[in-house]
Amino acid sequence: MEKILMVCLGNICRSPMAEGIVQDAFRRHNIAVEVHSAGTAGYHIGESADPRAQAELRKHQIDISNERAQQFIPEFFQTYDFIFTMDRNNFSDVYYLAETEEERAKVDMLMNVVYPGENIPIPDPYYGGSSGFSQVYSMISEAAEALVQNYKSKKK
Ligand code: 4NP
Repeated sequence: MEKILMVCLGNICRSPMAEGIVQDAFRRHNIAVEVHSAGTAGYHIGESADPRAQAELRKHQIDISNERAQQFIPEFFQTYDFIFTMDRNNFSDVYYLAETEEERAKVDMLMNVVYPGENIPIPDPYYGGSSGFSQVYSMISEAAEALVQNYKSKKK
């Protein structure tokens, strides 16, 4: 089974949302893909997703209450087939840990699935209000549908 890793800074806002939303999209389309998430920083290791992230996803019937934050480690280049980062900082932090061309080829910014090469960041909602979390939800949902469609066309 293919494995996808979503990466942000703290692994309590954007990437656990991406894990939940993308997992849900693949499930709805009956596609078996494993999705996990991690943060480039270790500040929140072991913590649940931010209550605002959980609340936003509950509105869309997605439960991420079991997710716990973990930090990205270079071994994940072996574990995962694709590594999607939320913003440019996450991208460079992960990219510079890659040691081979094969590892570097696994890393991209998530919104490039929808808008190839545009490097559109998913803004960090941590210090803002709840509208930031709705924006994160709608951007990631768009990416989730595109991922599912890409996956379906690949399989044909
Ligand atoms: P995330 O948001 O990267 O989307 O999980 C953040 C969460 C925590 C912090 C920064 C961003 N922080 O500085 O603690």
